[in-house]
Amino acid sequence: MTIDEPRMQYPVPPAIEHAELLTYRAEFPILQRKTYLNSCSLGALSVRSMQGMEQFMEMWNEWGAHAWYEIWLGEVAKARHKFAALIGAQVHEVAIAPSVSVALSTIATALDYSKRHKVVMADLDFPTLIYQWLVKERLGVSSHFVKSADRITLAPELFEEAVDAQTALVATSRVFYTSGYIQDIRAIADIAHKQGAYILVDDYQGTGQIPINVNALDVDFLVTGTLKWLMGGPGLSFVYIREGLLPLIEPTITGWFGHRDQFQFKTDEFTFRMDAARVEMGTPAMPTVYAANGGLDIVQEISVESICERTRYLTNDLIARAREHGWTVHAPQEPECRSSIVMLELEHPQQIVQALVERNIIADYRPGLLRISPYFYNTIEENAIVIDAVAEILAKRK
Ligand SMILES: Cc1ncc(COP(=O)(O)O)c(C=O)c1O
Repeated sequence: MTIDEPRMQYPVPPAIEHAELLTYRAEFPILQRKTYLNSCSLGALSVRSMQGMEQFMEMWNEWGAHAWYEIWLGEVAKARHKFAALIGAQVHEVAIAPSVSVALSTIATALDYSKRHKVVMADLDFPTLIYQWLVKERLGVSSHFVKSADRITLAPELFEEAVDAQTALVATSRVFYTSGYIQDIRAIADIAHKQGAYILVDDYQGTGQIPINVNALDVDFLVTGTLKWLMGGPGLSFVYIREGLLPLIEPTITGWFGHRDQFQFKTDEFTFRMDAARVEMGTPAMPTVYAANGGLDIVQEISVESICERTRYLTNDLIARAREHGWTVHAPQEPECRSSIVMLELEHPQQIVQALVERNIIADYRPGLLRISPYFYNTIEENAIVIDAVAEILAKRK
């Protein structure tokens, strides 16, 4: 099926229990007030996450600092376990960080660029990934970019030309934030490993909406966070480090959470922990950990496979509706390479977003593009609402 076919030819796949998924709408109060179509920026807040944050406040109020030991650190452990299960990792391969930028900076300081000075990235990657190595140019690191001709897709073979024996790392996204394109990470990992380089995946736009198994993809490092498709809000990110690499990862930025004997408060030496938490630094943002556990539970309950089927269905419908208006859709042609980030090439998208807000519709924009990102809790009716509203806004411009 291609996106040129009319919308009515996208039947509801029978395998999807739409009715069951739609019962989750009651868990997200914002859906009762707004047409919310911006989950790739910030996942909707669930009642479970709100209850979690209330619980955090109750614990703070009841126990004060005594809550740290078993209750709060236990809550961090739960988040770590749930995330490990979600990506097919072992718990000791998972660390937490306050943001993906911090996670990336930490890993970036742990790599040895003395024998291999090159880092290969895609020009469609999110800026914060690229910046980590651009700022290391004065340390002799050279950044190399694989370029997308259509600014939407990127054939994995292009990495083959860029990666060589000088390459320390291939760092790229599984899902491009600019077009929703899903890269073939396994193919890119094979290319990196053939040359003796590592692969790091920025999975912020993938985790939660597209199934993943880090072992099947053979990745060395993965960073992601709870803000978007995990519906956990800002302040918590995850780092996966392949077990075999753990002893080699010794960042030059650290903190007391990375020390093997954290609660012995030694100041005469530093020994890294044995597990991935060796890259952790300071006190975690507990309200987010509680919120994230609510979001992670929902994702786990529904399963990423079902979420993916549902969002594919919604995305195909949205694209078909946009095409009926003759708008250019900035998305891959092949449905299996698409994710739930739909970009429409429309002039002055910021003005459109503002006019949508006035109609209680939340979408977003990037330069020259209106961005709509449905999630499993959205509906075909909401697709129709946003598309009709955009058509009306554009008609008024004429
Ligand atoms: C793909 C991707 N990577 C990284 C980030 C930034 O993450 P953080 O703000 O946690 O550093 C974003 C945020 O939108 C993103 O979409």
